[in-house]
Amino acid sequence: MTFPQRRMRRLRRTPALRRLVAETHLRADDLVAPLFVREGIDEPQPIRSLPGQMQHTLDSLTQEVLDLASLGVPGVILFGIPATKDPEGSGAWDPDGIVQVALRELREAVGEEMVLMADLCVDEYTSHGHCGVLGDDGQPDNDATLELYAQIAVAQAEAGADVIAPSGMMDGQVLAIRDALDEAEFPEVAILAYSAKYASGLYGPFRDAVDVSIEGGGDRKAYQQDIRNAREGLEEIRLDVGEGADMVMVKPALSYLDIITRARAEIDVPIAAYHVSGEYAMIKAAAANGWIDGDAVLLEQLIAIKRAGADFVLTYGARELVEQGLVGR
Ligand code: PBG
Repeated sequence: MTFPQRRMRRLRRTPALRRLVAETHLRADDLVAPLFVREGIDEPQPIRSLPGQMQHTLDSLTQEVLDLASLGVPGVILFGIPATKDPEGSGAWDPDGIVQVALRELREAVGEEMVLMADLCVDEYTSHGHCGVLGDDGQPDNDATLELYAQIAVAQAEAGADVIAPSGMMDGQVLAIRDALDEAEFPEVAILAYSAKYASGLYGPFRDAVDVSIEGGGDRKAYQQDIRNAREGLEEIRLDVGEGADMVMVKPALSYLDIITRARAEIDVPIAAYHVSGEYAMIKAAAANGWIDGDAVLLEQLIAIKRAGADFVLTYGARELVEQGLVGR
């Protein structure tokens, strides 16, 4: 008897046949590792809610980046934890701020072998934990914040960043940063815009990792996107491309595959997706209980993100996946 289903079953029969007809491939080249560097510590500090991840010292960060480079991972994105915070978040643009110091050291250590990305935001540096300077209403003042973002971008470029990744969801941030970079003669520095960034419940472990809590139990719903909206995500992406973003990001990843797919169909710049801290931590927690096979689920999720249309994925699992040979070079 013959019926069309037979064709699929014939092609699923052996691992080699399955490899031959696989539509989606995940390789080391598709991964970017988010890394945390903390000012003023002598030993790396494990992050409890992100098993296997560390708040790095400058030395351990450099070693981690060298290891990732030798594993073939092409990019890292840096987040800083300053020793002190203030209302404006001045550590974010101080030439001696932790991320700027780290960028200089890393550039020296890895040369051009690794794409060095810097997350651009002030929430890790502000005493109130918001992504901008506050106006009278207790919310970030969009336009005043853009001036800070411009300064941060130039400080990060001067320190050696290849890619600046603004994550604060201020309107006009891409244009303000592009102008500032061009004016300071960094036309070659690229912008990866966190364009469709949702006000998600999945950033919890990250806030532990960077010691951020929003003053008065507040949230970011007035500037990050409403989880109920898809068209708005597309509009944000279009605007950022128009303002000069070289690459755009959807974040979180797994709950927003529809946004990735729709963006892929419409725009031609590279699309990144951020498999965020909560997505990673849920896998680790369930695996630690013996409820799921953590490696298999991590791989399944990252492949789904690529299948939806992402070109590359920011993931806390980058190192372990390549090290264990779960993804090829
Ligand atoms: C803002 C920023 C956040 C993340 C990346 N950049 C936190 C937030 O918007 O609250 C979250 C990343 C993650 O959860 O892994 N600087």
